[in-house]
Amino acid sequence: MNSNNKITILGIESSCDDTSAAIIENGSIRSNIIAGQKVHEAYGGVVPELASRAHQQNIVPVVDQAIKQAGISLSKINAIAFTRGPGLLGSLLVGTSFAKGLSLSLNIPIIEVNHLQGHVLAHFVDQAGQTNPKPAFPHLCLLVSGGNSQIILVKDYLDMEVIGQTIDDAAGEAFDKCAKVMDMPYPGGPLIDKLAQQGNPNAIAFNKPRIEGLNYSFSGLKTSFLYHLRDALKIDPEYIDKNKADLCASLQKTIVDILLGKLIRASKETGIKTITVAGGVSANSGLRNELMLQAQKHKWQLFIPKLEYTTDNAAMIAITGYYKYLKDEFANHDLTPYSRVAI
Ligand code: KG4
Repeated sequence: MNSNNKITILGIESSCDDTSAAIIENGSIRSNIIAGQKVHEAYGGVVPELASRAHQQNIVPVVDQAIKQAGISLSKINAIAFTRGPGLLGSLLVGTSFAKGLSLSLNIPIIEVNHLQGHVLAHFVDQAGQTNPKPAFPHLCLLVSGGNSQIILVKDYLDMEVIGQTIDDAAGEAFDKCAKVMDMPYPGGPLIDKLAQQGNPNAIAFNKPRIEGLNYSFSGLKTSFLYHLRDALKIDPEYIDKNKADLCASLQKTIVDILLGKLIRASKETGIKTITVAGGVSANSGLRNELMLQAQKHKWQLFIPKLEYTTDNAAMIAITGYYKYLKDEFANHDLTPYSRVAI
């Protein structure tokens, strides 16, 4: 521990297309710097090789800025937490190698973090000088991002079980792929959200999946959306432009209904009424509104993250590192990143 009896963790996140570094002191945020990568916009999705190169360029300035903004010196850092996976291997290698190198030069330990666990624990980051209300254990977390749609039973900080997950596409992928067929830029989720606010969510009925248990499926919805456009464009080639807001609103409503349907069921089956939401899609205004409505109806205690903690960020990696530090869960330097792994 450093001289002020504070545990200071440097978090590093580089699993996809955001390079991020954060400083957390005793669970409280001191800095959270995120450098996005615009280079992928022209390609309609993340290009792994370009992502790794951009991480390579960004990592030093981003870590440097996080340390400066936190107003600390390198010698105050007790441990470096980094995302080991899941994610793009080349991207993960940049953060992992950087964490190992810096830890050797400072002679401090490294802590490996599962990116998904980080998303779940983002709710435990305190703002500087404040203590936020935190979800009690056990709780259910709806984790919805570009690569995951899961319902997680969170038993403790580091004890989680996936009780439902997508069997094909993730919710974010459904937003992004449907946006792509409407010729909208990547990532399409935020734009669909914006346009949906001017449209009629009941204008078009898309197919909803019938999947057993608590699992999700979004590939059928994508096909239903595609076939609807194909048929409508035969009659009116300008159908998309004329109906974009209604298409976005109806698609968003369908995705939100699918997500909430299983979450309500999970809450009933487990008897758990403390609910959190995490991941990039948790920024969606339709999802947030519906969650609040359902929370009132079912008497849930609901935790919705601040917008900066919805997408990939190092604050969530640093807070997970903090809880692992308290349990002496350190990693060896011979570890390698993993592109796929469960929570
Ligand atoms: O968690 P995240 O930043 O990255 C990973 O998946 O790793 O999530 C990105 C996803 C993208 O699919 C993006 O379209 C979606 O989150 N997203 C949204 C919104 N903001 C981001 N989807 C719907 N509405 C939004 N407001």
